[in-house]
Amino acid sequence: MRIIIISAIAQNGVIGTAKGEMPWHVKEEFAHFKSTTFGSPVIMGRKTFETLGKPLKGRLNIIVTHSESFQVEDTLVQNSLLSAVDYCNKEKHKKIFIIGGREIYTQAIPLADEMILSFMKFNAEGEILFPEYDKNDWQKTDERNFEQFSVVYFVRKGKN
Ligand SMILES: NC(=O)c1ccc[n+]([C@@H]2O[C@H](COP(=O)([O-])OP(=O)(O)OC[C@H]3O[C@@H](n4cnc5c(N)ncnc54)[C@H](OP(=O)(O)O)[C@@H]3O)[C@@H](O)[C@H]2O)c1
Repeated sequence: MRIIIISAIAQNGVIGTAKGEMPWHVKEEFAHFKSTTFGSPVIMGRKTFETLGKPLKGRLNIIVTHSESFQVEDTLVQNSLLSAVDYCNKEKHKKIFIIGGREIYTQAIPLADEMILSFMKFNAEGEILFPEYDKNDWQKTDERNFEQFSVVYFVRKGKN
């Protein structure tokens, strides 16, 4: 099973605001996110789910929270990132997407096989940044250029 991080990152590293908002709305980027993740499980932190407000269609939505009582219709709630990943492994999913936010990305980077990062061509206002990662661990395999962003595909060295 491939564990794939997907994120959109402003030039200054921002991925969101402390209030939980996405600081930009770029239709083409959202379409890329939707078509890439459609049909696969998506794993997210509880705060990212609150930002979305409802489950993403056509995908198993797995929400990670410490809460034992948190429940949302049409989603699966797990009490750790590892248990979410284990669940998908047992269900024999071929690939799963880690869709944020920062706390979840931070824990997922050491586990991930691939990263699909949209580098936005502008700075954004916000307090939440994509976590630091060691660029030496990752090999760029492809890049697709759009007007307002470039999607860069990375594979962990030794995992392709
Ligand atoms: N640009 C992008 O691509 C992108 C993508 C996604 C999100 N975002 C942005 O990122 C921000 C949210 O990121 P964030 O770091 O604040 O929050 P987050 O990672 O979405 O969620 C954090 C929450 O996840 C739960 N959690 C984290 N690790 C856990 C673990 N090991 N076990 C159990 N529960 C765990 C906790 O929930 P409980 O407190 O309930 O225990 C924690 O408070 C927002 O601004 C959002 O808009 C941006």
